[in-house]
Amino acid sequence: MTNSLRLAAVLALVAPMASAEAVAPAQVAYDDYGEVMTSLTGAPGDAERGAEVMTTRGLGNCIACHQVTDLDDHPFHGEVGPSLDGVAERWSEAQLRGIIANAKLTFPDSIMPAFYKVDEFVRPGNAFTGRAAEGALDPLLTAQQIEDVVAYLMTLDTYYD
Ligand code: HEC
Repeated sequence: MTNSLRLAAVLALVAPMASAEAVAPAQVAYDDYGEVMTSLTGAPGDAERGAEVMTTRGLGNCIACHQVTDLDDHPFHGEVGPSLDGVAERWSEAQLRGIIANAKLTFPDSIMPAFYKVDEFVRPGNAFTGRAAEGALDPLLTAQQIEDVVAYLMTLDTYYD
């Protein structure tokens, strides 16, 4: 391939990603193993913000169920799920993205919440009428927050005794 051809090929791959909007929860492309190959935002996440999402109640609150040595300055780590130490050694970025967006495709019957999914949930009832809430529900995390968490998890390449 000539240099200019090679450049054109690279641009053809990159250009649609650069201009892409966030992938909607119903549009996420999972493969047969529950992996999601491409960023939900078309861009890499921010690891520091990912750590915030993971430790913030009302956002990911991942440490309610997972121990993470790197986040030890945040109290109350749960042990419902496995420790996430060394998780970047066990799973690829695509696998981690899939696990966070919808863990049930990787671990059937998991109690881990699907953080980027809005259909098939039982719709919360209206307190007065008992009827299901109307309109679209928001996913637990935004596409950006999912990517930030993925970026943070990719830094967890160390096991501790
Ligand atoms: C309600 C508890 C719960 C919460 C909250 C939770 N998880 Fe999990 N997670 C689990 C369990 C349990 C597993 C083990 C898989 C299974 O269900 O068989 C798991 C598995 C995982 C795995 C695979 C770990 C491995 O090495 O096998 C990753 C990565 C993960 N969770 C990340 C997260 C992140 C990131 C968050 C927050 C955005 C989160 N989890 C929130 C319960 C939870």
